[in-house]
Amino acid sequence: MIQLNKLSVIYNRGILTALHPTTIEFRRGEFTVLLGTSGAGKSTLLRSLNLLNTPTSGEVSVAGVCINNARALRNHRRNTAMIFQQHQLMRRQTALYNVLAGRLGYYSSLRSLLPMREVDRQLALHCLERVGLLDKALERVDCLSGGQMQRVGIARALVQQPKVLLADEPVASLDPSCAHQVMSLLQGLCAEKNMTTVVSLHQVEFAKIYAQRIVALVEGQVIFDGCVDELTDDIVKKIYSTPLLGSY
Ligand SMILES: Nc1ncnc2c1ncn2[C@@H]1O[C@H](COP(=O)(O)OP(=O)(O)OP(=O)(O)O)[C@@H](O)[C@H]1O
Ligand SMILES: [Mg+2]
Repeated sequence: MIQLNKLSVIYNRGILTALHPTTIEFRRGEFTVLLGTSGAGKSTLLRSLNLLNTPTSGEVSVAGVCINNARALRNHRRNTAMIFQQHQLMRRQTALYNVLAGRLGYYSSLRSLLPMREVDRQLALHCLERVGLLDKALERVDCLSGGQMQRVGIARALVQQPKVLLADEPVASLDPSCAHQVMSLLQGLCAEKNMTTVVSLHQVEFAKIYAQRIVALVEGQVIFDGCVDELTDDIVKKIYSTPLLGSY
């Protein structure tokens, strides 16, 4: 569904290759986990999927159409929701308000100044219910736990009714039990809504439990792309034996 074609990302005026030319496809409804040490290029690859990083070379196609023009890119971004480690919520606003903010992409800039439509409010409440937080809808986000905040972030992503879900280390700041809850929720939603889901993680054990497919990066290069059963201990060693600061 999303295809990177020889896509590379080079920073610092050509001296740092964050992503070497990479050709890879993420298929509809597939749950992929990106693994790699810090600096390996996980976020770069993830952000390339909706061109939040400007590629140095190569292109991205969605359903066979190259998104190198403003219209195609806007359309793709509207169908793509993102979840971040620090959830990036408005902490002084309610959970419901934050989730409703996810609908703003559907409003013209003038219309967004007016109250949200009732149908969107109902959808936002439905999404909060789906992540188990209906009873917290009117609570301020800064009164919620880290795991609950992350679930509000997921509800905000869901309210966009996306076809693609990109999550950059969504469980990095959660305790193991909350992290399992969030991963299981993401996995369930991916299957239920047939969303193409790509999640970057530091925990190999979570990748093994939840991923359908694992893509591993070392120094900006994909060194493994396969299913959980194919991820041998030797490959795991190869992924994590790279010096933390790399050799750029
Ligand atoms: N905006 C930027 N400008 C310059 N260099 C960058 C930029 N973003 C990332 N990099 C560099 O590109 C490389 C890959 O970074 P990236 O954020 O993709 O790694 P990562 O695998 O997500 O790491 P982490 O696990 O720490 O989040 C790193 O060396 C990083 O310092
Ligand atoms: Mg990252």
